[in-house]
Amino acid sequence: MRRPCVRVDREDGERTRQSLEEAGVRDHEAAIESDGEYVYIPVIDGAAILEEFEVIERELEPRTARTLPNDLLSFTPTYERLGDLVLLQEDDRNRAIKAASAFMRSDLPVEAVLWRRSEVEGTYRIADWELLEGDRTETVHREYGAEFLVDPTKAYFSPRLATERHRVVSQIQQGEQVVDMFAGVGPFAIRAALAGAKVIAVDVNPDAVTYLTENVRRNGVENAVTVIEGDVGEIVDNHTDWADRIIMNLPHRADEYLGTAGLFAAASCRLHYYDIQPEVDAFNPGIGAINEVLAGTYEIEVITEQAVRSYAPGVINICLDVDLQRRTEKPPTP
Ligand SMILES: C[S@@+](CC[C@H](N)C(=O)[O-])C[C@H]1O[C@@H](n2cnc3c(N)ncnc32)[C@H](O)[C@@H]1O
Repeated sequence: MRRPCVRVDREDGERTRQSLEEAGVRDHEAAIESDGEYVYIPVIDGAAILEEFEVIERELEPRTARTLPNDLLSFTPTYERLGDLVLLQEDDRNRAIKAASAFMRSDLPVEAVLWRRSEVEGTYRIADWELLEGDRTETVHREYGAEFLVDPTKAYFSPRLATERHRVVSQIQQGEQVVDMFAGVGPFAIRAALAGAKVIAVDVNPDAVTYLTENVRRNGVENAVTVIEGDVGEIVDNHTDWADRIIMNLPHRADEYLGTAGLFAAASCRLHYYDIQPEVDAFNPGIGAINEVLAGTYEIEVITEQAVRSYAPGVINICLDVDLQRRTEKPPTP
């Protein structure tokens, strides 16, 4: 079967395998191969792999001596692995039931299978899930040395953003002050704290805050992360002029909170603004919104236009890294 894989020189093979394992993107259903010069490491999602790696498509053998779900099915299901859960994204419930049963009978380490009945929706950004196999919806996800207790039925979480989080966290300097305005169960906030930042992490979903608090404890960053439950627009007054870096991972609606971001920001601040837009013009709507709300107070420089992952056909999830520099004088009137 043709699969995406990372191609590296043989001597870099083991180091790369470990880093892909830590990122949670190694595809365990296909075997790693070598042709003497290169090692080919299968990965789950070629588009989500960091630019430092070369991703190619290659015919790879399935790992032998193990029964895989596809050995038990007449179709290839669409799914994501999250810890020891399988999250199925099939349109048809009967297919989902067959796939769920195949995952449980396979040799993969799977404890439960959930079927996604809707896209993420509502203020809390949670999909509607049905538990098809197993008896729990909670699991532990590991990412770049951090550990997260998650439950996709109670709070948003996507393992597919691991490489994007790594990209952002890699920019953090020791002692930085970071606001994660839409923190969920804490994957950005906790990894920022592990990188040496002081973090304010806010979420309006009480279940997300319960998991966030537990994950702060699990990762030993209680002294670095302040967890706040509430609408980020209502708590900002106590933390104005504070943030060196702001993470706004609320695609579709981040523009509504740009005024709040402007209040959190210190005189000099980097903003990570997430959006979901048609691929043909993915960055300009966000750049326009940021300028409209913040250009009166800050000089604005777009540092990176990052395509994060494909979201739907012709639609992508993007991030804008933007530097804000507070103006000392009012801008000239146009
Ligand atoms: C797309 S999720 C991102 C979660 C997390 N940053 C991550 O990467 O997993 C957006 C989160 O924002 C929270 N949220 C939505 N509106 C909010 C608001 N006004 N104030 C604070 N949190 C909010 C939701 O509950 C949800 O957990």
